[in-house]
Amino acid sequence: MFTISLLGQKGGTGKTTVALGLAVAAFRAGKVVAVIDLDPQASAANWKDRRSDNNPAVVSAQSSRLKQTLTAAEEMGAEIVIIDTAGRNDDSALNAARFADLVLIPTRTNIVELEALPAAADILRLAGGPKAFVVLNGVHPAANRQVAEARELVQRTFGLPCAPIHLCHRSAYADAMTSGRTPQELDEDGKAAGELDALFQFSFEFVNSRTGEHVQDRIAASRA
Ligand SMILES: Nc1ncnc2c1ncn2[C@@H]1O[C@H](COP(=O)(O)OP(=O)(O)OP(=O)(O)O)[C@@H](O)[C@H]1O
Ligand SMILES: [Mg+2]
Repeated sequence: MFTISLLGQKGGTGKTTVALGLAVAAFRAGKVVAVIDLDPQASAANWKDRRSDNNPAVVSAQSSRLKQTLTAAEEMGAEIVIIDTAGRNDDSALNAARFADLVLIPTRTNIVELEALPAAADILRLAGGPKAFVVLNGVHPAANRQVAEARELVQRTFGLPCAPIHLCHRSAYADAMTSGRTPQELDEDGKAAGELDALFQFSFEFVNSRTGEHVQDRIAASRA
């Protein structure tokens, strides 16, 4: 089992959207996947309530019980766990980062949003430095220069790498959220679907390419 955590210290950056999009991409790729929703706003759990399909599993949990929730997910056969966190300063982001094999930090590309990245970098440091990528989100589909500049700024100024996949601003994201679905389920050949599937593929291959450290080891270490 491996764990991908979504975090960021700003609200509305796309954490829940990406968490659910990745979960559905994983499920459609044949993986057993669970979403753990640590946000008291419970947006992911509410999405699940609007949904007719049983998959992916979504569990609303308290951050202080994350370790036990991960153990339960593993015992139930989850191969991939995706953790959604609250968009403000509480301990869910730190806990989610501690147990992550990969952290994804969605952000909009304007400077006000980018300036919140150091707070996310601080959390990564406190969590022991899990592997992390910033995911540029809500980009205008024609704004190639904006993407290049934001990538450069994120890397140079904030010292964080950007994922090679970014997500454009597309109406499919909000439309899908309303009906308890994700863009892949509205139009599997659509551009938003392609972006989410590509981000999942990148994340999956990235985690699989790394050896050693995995969440089970950290759970075992924290029990010792
Ligand atoms: N790429 C995108 N294109 C269009 N709309 C988007 C995109 N990404 C996210 N949104 C919309 O932006 C809003 C905020 O997204 P989301 O709820 O995923 O953010 P969040 O980081 O989880 O917020 P919070 O911090 O409140 O939990 C939602 O209405 C969502 O549908
Ligand atoms: Mg959210």
